[in-house]
Formats: sequence, C-alpha cells, structure tokens
Amino acid sequence: MKIIFQDNGNYLNEWMRALKHSLPQAEVSVWQEGDHTPADYAIVWKPLAAMLDGRADLKAIFSRGAGVDGILLSGAALPPQVPVIRLTDAGMGVQMAEFVTHAVLRYFRQFDVFAEDSALKKWQPRLPQKREDFRIGVLGMGVLGQKIIHALQTFEFPINAWSRNSKNMEGVQSFSGEEGLAEFLSSSKVLVCILPLTDETRGILNYKNLSQLPRGAYLINVARGAHLVEEDLLQLIQNGHVAGAALDVFAQEPLPLDHAFWQEKRITITPHVAAVTMIDESAEQIAQKIARLERGESVDGIVNRQRGY
Ligand code: NAP
Ligand code: GLV
Repeated sequence: MKIIFQDNGNYLNEWMRALKHSLPQAEVSVWQEGDHTPADYAIVWKPLAAMLDGRADLKAIFSRGAGVDGILLSGAALPPQVPVIRLTDAGMGVQMAEFVTHAVLRYFRQFDVFAEDSALKKWQPRLPQKREDFRIGVLGMGVLGQKIIHALQTFEFPINAWSRNSKNMEGVQSFSGEEGLAEFLSSSKVLVCILPLTDETRGILNYKNLSQLPRGAYLINVARGAHLVEEDLLQLIQNGHVAGAALDVFAQEPLPLDHAFWQEKRITITPHVAAVTMIDESAEQIAQKIARLERGESVDGIVNRQRGY
C-alpha cells in the first residue's frame, strides 16, 4: 500500500514514526511537487492543489484535522468518487472542552477582572454573577460541539445550541436553521463558535448577528477565522455591546503584528491551539479507517462535499 504524505513543515519526523507504527505494511512517502506516482491514500493538511488535482488513483484523502476547508478550498479538482475523510475527535474533543470551559469560567468567575485588580494591588471582592444569566450558546453540535456542551453542563450552565438539523440533547435548548438563529442569539450571554467553515457559515459572526446577543455578551471563536468579520467585532467591543472575546483562529494566521486585535485588551488571543492534532491518536485513527476501507466497511468522518463538512 502506497501513501503520500504532505509535509507542511511541522512534525514530519513524529508523523513518520507514528505512521510506521500504526501502518507498518504501508510505504509512506513525502509528496514533492511534480510527483504524480500513483498512490492509494493521501494524508494532508492545507495541501497545494497540485497534490490532489485529478488524483483518481487515490482510494481516499485523509485530513490531519477535524476541518476540511483547507482541502475543499485548495482549488484542487478532487475526483468525485474519492472520499475526503476527516479526523473525528482523535483526542481533540477533550482539548476543546478544556479550552472553552476555561474561557467561559474566566468570564463567569471574573478572573479577567481579578487579574486587572491584582496588577494594581487592589483587594476588591466582587459578588458572583448569576449562572441563570450566563446562558451559553454553542454554534455547532457536532463531534466537538457536543464535547464542549457536556463539559459546560457539569458546571450547570444553561445551554443553547444551534445546528443545521434540530437535535435532541438532554438539558439543551436546541435551535436549528436560519429561522432558529435570532432566538438562539438573543438568549446567549456567551457565544461559542465550533462550526465548520462552509459557504453557509463564512462570516456568520458579523455585526447583524453579534448585535443580537444581549448587551455585555462574550464571544469565543474556536472554529475558523473566516467565520468572524473582524472589524464588526472591534466595533461591537468598542461600543460596549460585546464585553470580551477569546479568539483562537483568525482570517490571517499568524495574526499580523500590526493587527488591531493585539491592542484590544478585551480580546484574548491564542495561536490556533484550542484543539491540536494528536499525532499518535490521529495516525491510529487513520490506520483503522484504512483497514475498514480495505475490508469494504463503512467509516465515519466522510465529508459531504455539497454541504462542505
Ligand atoms: P462536525 O462534527 O462536522 O460538526 C459540525 C456541526 O456544525 C454540526 O452540528 C452541524 O450541524 C453544524 N453545522 C454545519 N453547517 C451548519 C449550518 N449551515 N447551520 C447550522 N449548523 C451547521 O465538526 P467537528 O468535528 O465538531 O469540528 C467543527 C470544526 O471545528 C472543524 O470544522 C474545524 O474548523 C474546527 N476546529 C478547530 C480547531 C482549533 O484548534 N481551533 C480544532 C479542531 C477543529 P448538523 O449536526 O445538523 O449537521
Ligand atoms: C484544526 O483546526 C482542525 O480542524 O483540526
């Protein structure tokens, strides 16, 4: 079995070691520009179009992440019969749950305010905020969204969630589609975005939608930078409608040094690390999916190209 691997400059040795361990029978080669040698599988993250263009020889294309926008938007003419398969959790769910819980608790328990007080040597106890006034709205109820929701439920936060198709999840007020969005937003004190980036979700965190959140709301974006209209958020923070934002993803990454977000202390920035691909778990998941495909069995995480996720 031949596998082509796209090197994006990160952790190549670790990936090669993990793939050798999980797929000892495979011949894994690092793809080079101009290489058209037939292969069975490709393992990629934001590939060049030339790597996948018209590669009808492949039995599947594996994403090294949960998101597949980097593949679908690469400009490659992907043969329709070749499935694109994403990582399903593979150790990312618990990281997402940690990241979002940390951000929510920072706002709810006013740790951001206590940190400012501490820097001024100010001893200032404050009354707790009311949990019932801190309804969390999660955009996206997929593999990672559900992990986030379960984690927040252990702290007894009231939860709204929004997805394409309506869902029945215990203790969660579920909304779906365009028609459910306004009510979802108007009752969400903290908005968490964990949607895939598609034509339908691009720019969803815009002025019109964010201004429907209650005044003093918070935004946590752990999905993709292109979900957010960055200048709209700045305007809403500056006029006080949005009290703060924890952003892990940006339209341009790394975030440019002269970007206004660096100057805004109500915005917390992390470098796209909310849930990092775990190399051993991911190589093992890909190996198991390949084994199932080779036996003609179904696998999860096959992307619906029309929907874009
Ligand atoms: P997933 O299982 O495919 O879940 C996607 C969810 O979004 C589903 O609930 C889906 O609704 C909903 N959705 C999609 N399009 C929608 C629309 N137009 N309207 C309403 N709901 C819509 O994906 P996942 O594994 O949870 O991952 C989500 C995203 O997280 C990835 O695509 C990636 O961009 C991002 N991510 C970020 C990081 C990071 O470190 N920052 C790490 C990993 C992943 P249905 O359930 O009704 O289909
Ligand atoms: C990371 O952003 C991923 O999509 O896995």
